[in-house]
Amino acid sequence: MIRVALVGCGVIGRHHARAIEEHPAFELVAAVDAVASNAIALLGADNAFATLPEALREREVDLVVICTPSGTHIDLARQAVQAGKHVVIEKPLDVDVTRAAEFAREARDCGQVLSVISQHRFDPASLAVARAVHGGRFGRPTSAVATVAWWRDQDYYDSGDWRGTWRLDGGGALMNQGVHTADLLCWFLGRPVEVQASAALLAHERVEVEDAVAATVVFESGALAVLLATTAAYPGLSARIQVHGSEGSAIIDNDRLEYFHAKASAAGDATRGVTGGAVAGNQAEAEVGLAETPAGPRGDHDFVLAHRRQYDDVARAITTGGRPAVSIEDALLSLAFVRAVYVSAALGRRVLVADVLNGANPDVHLSLGP
Ligand SMILES: NC(=O)c1ccc[n+]([C@@H]2O[C@H](COP(=O)([O-])OP(=O)(O)OC[C@H]3O[C@@H](n4cnc5c(N)ncnc54)[C@H](O)[C@@H]3O)[C@@H](O)[C@H]2O)c1
Repeated sequence: MIRVALVGCGVIGRHHARAIEEHPAFELVAAVDAVASNAIALLGADNAFATLPEALREREVDLVVICTPSGTHIDLARQAVQAGKHVVIEKPLDVDVTRAAEFAREARDCGQVLSVISQHRFDPASLAVARAVHGGRFGRPTSAVATVAWWRDQDYYDSGDWRGTWRLDGGGALMNQGVHTADLLCWFLGRPVEVQASAALLAHERVEVEDAVAATVVFESGALAVLLATTAAYPGLSARIQVHGSEGSAIIDNDRLEYFHAKASAAGDATRGVTGGAVAGNQAEAEVGLAETPAGPRGDHDFVLAHRRQYDDVARAITTGGRPAVSIEDALLSLAFVRAVYVSAALGRRVLVADVLNGANPDVHLSLGP
């Protein structure tokens, strides 16, 4: 059994607790939270601790899972690594690229398993698209359109002091909600190199960050993407990614493979020459077995299932000494991509992701709120 200390027992911490407790490879032995009642509610007073060092002194722990506000992730991860523990960090890796890059360098050869939650990389639909793009079945990747058109009401932003702040949330619709989609774009299309963006705060108040951001992106391969992330799309639509190549395309909508077409198959040959017509030759069902495809809009169970799949991967990496599917470097690239969007929107010009990764403009923040 892999013994787990969970740090941060709020909304997503409770969800991790469920995924861990349902998983045969893990045992939850300590709950850590700055607010005692949150840790006690999760695991009882005997197993509740105020700080990570206290928990590590009192309990035998193999893995530390960090579910605290985003701007605290690296400090806690460093404590866990220095104590010799494996670490799982909720997304995003942190809000500060310089701090995150330093940690990535320090921890590179530590010998423990370090992974960052990006549960949608484990959805059958995402796996099917990644497999197809990386295996060349879409020919040359040419472009993508990614939209996160969600709604968060004002109560959501008012529900925690850290929400909607640059220091601890690191951004709004893109850093908090859209980072999953940004990460999938990087996974499907490779390194983003150049970003041009605009951002605004349009439907909320008392927050510092954006509730709508639009960007165009150039990838190292030459592929282009359009990215929109908003928490101001009432009543809340879907997270959707279209990936296009010279020999195939796919659409993922709310984690489901809505459309898939690759030319190098019998069905593809039959529809050769068809242009436009988004439903031509849809091979989605064959590509992702029906049993693996969530049947409808994402429910609570599917949400736990997605994390559970990533825990399978973490368990495999810990027990075999292998690499986790989502590395610190993967998450650092996604973080730098998101920061490049913000820096571009703040400066009103094109920004290179490499410059952000190398520490340029760490303190540039959009000024949107009060
Ligand atoms: N993967 C996903 O789909 C997903 C979904 C929601 C949230 N998240 C991420 O999870 C993190 C937490 O989000 P949340 O919505 O659960 O927030 P939350 O405010 O509900 O919970 C955070 C908890 O951390 C505690 N805390 C704060 N600082 C602490 C510290 N230094 N030590 C110990 N405990 C501390 C708070 O008291 C609170 O209980 C964020 O980084 C967020 O981006 C990921």
